[in-house]
Amino acid sequence: MKLFDVYPLYDVNPEKAKDVFIYDNYGNKYIDLYGGHAVISIGHSHPEYVKNISRQLNKIGFYSNSVKNSLQEQLADLIVKYSGCEDYSLFMCNSGAEANENALKLASIHTGKSRIIAFRNSFHGRSNAAIAATDFKKFHSKLENRLDVTFINLNDSKTLKNEIKKGDVCAVLLESIQGYGGLDEPDKDFVLLINSLCKKYNSCLIADEVQSGFGRTGKFFAFQEYEIKPHFICMAKGMGNGFPVGGLLINSTIKSEHGMLGTTFGGNHLACVASLTVLNVIEKEDLQQNAREIGNYFIENAKQIPEIINIKGKGLMLGIEFNYEVKEIRKKLIYDKKIFTGSSGNKNLLRILPPLTIKKKHIDIFFESLKEVI
Ligand SMILES: Cc1ncc(COP(=O)(O)O)c(C=O)c1O
Repeated sequence: MKLFDVYPLYDVNPEKAKDVFIYDNYGNKYIDLYGGHAVISIGHSHPEYVKNISRQLNKIGFYSNSVKNSLQEQLADLIVKYSGCEDYSLFMCNSGAEANENALKLASIHTGKSRIIAFRNSFHGRSNAAIAATDFKKFHSKLENRLDVTFINLNDSKTLKNEIKKGDVCAVLLESIQGYGGLDEPDKDFVLLINSLCKKYNSCLIADEVQSGFGRTGKFFAFQEYEIKPHFICMAKGMGNGFPVGGLLINSTIKSEHGMLGTTFGGNHLACVASLTVLNVIEKEDLQQNAREIGNYFIENAKQIPEIINIKGKGLMLGIEFNYEVKEIRKKLIYDKKIFTGSSGNKNLLRILPPLTIKKKHIDIFFESLKEVI
C-alpha cells in the first residue's frame, strides 16, 4: 500500500538521533536546526527522557481517563511551578490542534457566543475550529468554512475594536509569535488592547502557545512578555519532546462540567512522564536561559550577512528572511551541508527551531554553511 501523499518529502531517512544531531540510514550526521518542527525541546533521546519513559512503560503505559492518574496532577503542579501561571487548571489532550479546538469550544460554552477573531497569517491546526481560524485558505474545505471567523491584520486596533464591540465574539485566538505564518509579532499595545477588550466584551483570550511554549522563546510562554492573563493557554509540541501530548490551561473563571471535554489517549501515563521529564530537564539544564543566549548569538551572526533582509522571532523561535525564495537554500543545507532547517507560509523565510540544548558552535557551523550556499 502507498502512503497518502500529502507531504513534499526530503529524501532523508533518519534512523537515530542524539541531542542536536540526526543520523540517517547511511550513517550521515545532520545538525537539527528544525527540531522536527519545534518539537524537540530537551534534545533527541535525552538520557533522562529515555530512562523515565522506559521505566514508566515497565510499570503502566496507559489507562483511560475514567480512573485517577496522579501523574496528571504532578504535571499540573509542575507547570504552575515553572510557568508561574497560577489560577488555572489543566486538561490534557494529544496535539496542538486538539488543544485549540477544546479551548474554542469552552470559550463558546462559557460566553454563549460563537464568532471567533483570528489574525492574518495565523496557523492553529487541522481540526475543524482550529483550521477555520487558520488564515491559509489552501488548507480549508467547505466544512470548516461554515464557522464564523473574522480575520484581522496584526496591530489593526480599529478593526479589532469595531469587531469585538459587536458583542458576538466568543474568542480571540492569538499566537504571540506567529509560527507557520512567518514569525511576525503583534505590538505590545495591541496585545494589551486585546486583553482589555476581551474582558470588557465578555470574550475569551486564547494564547496559542503550541509552538512558542515550554521555554522556546526564552520565556516559559511567549505571551509572558506582556502583562496579560489569557482565559486559555494551549500547549503541545515542546511539551513532550516528541511524545505526542498536548494540553490547555484553563482559567478558574471557566467552570467545568462532567462530559464537557474528553479524550481516550490524552494525558496517559507515558505522555505525563514525557512532559514531567521535559520540565525537569528545562529547569535543571537552564534551557530557557540557553534559548535566550543562543537566540541572541544567532541574531548577532545573522546581522553580519547582507543577503538577510529581516531577522524575526525570539529565543530559539527564529526566522531569517531573504528577498528571494529559500527553497534552494534549504535543499543545499540539507543535502550538501547536512543541516535541517524549516520553511513557513512566507516562502522567503528560513525557520530556525532547534532543540533548546543547541550551542554556539552549532550556530557557527550553520552560518559558515549558509554563507557557502547563498
Ligand atoms: C501555533 C500552532 N498552533 C497549532 C498547531 C497545530 O499543532 P498540531 O500539529 O500538534 O495539531 C501548530 C502546528 O504547527 C502551531 O504551530
